[in-house]
Amino acid sequence: MRKTLAEIRSMKAEGKKISMLTAYDSSMARLLSSCGVDVLLVGDSLGMVMLGYDSTVPVTMEEMLHHVKAVRRGAPDSFILGDMPFGANHTGERDAVKNGIRFLKEGGCDAVKLEGGLEMCGVVKALVTAGVPVMAHIGLTPQTASQLGGYKLQGKGLDDARRLLAEAKGLEEAGAFGLLLECIPDGLARVISESIAIPTVGIGAGVHCDGQVLVTHDLLGMFDKFTPKFVKKYADLSPIIKSSIQQYNTEVKNGGYPGPDHSFSSDSDYSHLLRD
Ligand code: KIV
Repeated sequence: MRKTLAEIRSMKAEGKKISMLTAYDSSMARLLSSCGVDVLLVGDSLGMVMLGYDSTVPVTMEEMLHHVKAVRRGAPDSFILGDMPFGANHTGERDAVKNGIRFLKEGGCDAVKLEGGLEMCGVVKALVTAGVPVMAHIGLTPQTASQLGGYKLQGKGLDDARRLLAEAKGLEEAGAFGLLLECIPDGLARVISESIAIPTVGIGAGVHCDGQVLVTHDLLGMFDKFTPKFVKKYADLSPIIKSSIQQYNTEVKNGGYPGPDHSFSSDSDYSHLLRD
């Protein structure tokens, strides 16, 4: 059954952890949904994982919507969170609201996620006022990773930690229903989680968050360009996929596939058609 926004919000008060994973296509969405994952995130990480970009920056609204629609078709009963791509919420509240509404109306999302701290509070407020629920995303924000010195731990020093805590409180006040914390020390994630009433979902932020999210392809060992420290590989599918494909390739070339088990036979004799 699809969780409601109210149910997701109340999981924190009830001490129930929220599970979130990325989905970019219909068949994976179906699998995740059948496993009872609470939230499917159509993350802009799809730019790197699915589209081969070097970062998430080039991802467009049209690309996001294409994938969001596929995920919705595969998981009609799941809560789906659509990621606002870089640029979708950076050119003013009006554009942000327009794009947020597209995620809900065209994509069938239940809510959107957007990266940024206090500078995004106005946008969050505008989206929520327009009826678009928002999860905010602070800490390591991949869309602006170059300004943060690369893909590295955030909030290590006390000044940075104070800034992140202030951002968390500001975004809660602006109306965000949840907060994603990426790549920050677990102690800081604990303080933030205990300081706000909305649920936190962590990635590389330790066990004290109210929920966890991972990129599904990382968890399954299907994306081997790099593996961050916080990723736990629950499977190593790349070698299994490679050896299956190699076997198929070999069998096609040596005539081993398809054999009788994978072919259709009939009692008709077709050979005279050659002479007709
Ligand atoms: O785009 C994404 O997949 C994300 C996760 C890293 C949380 O934002």
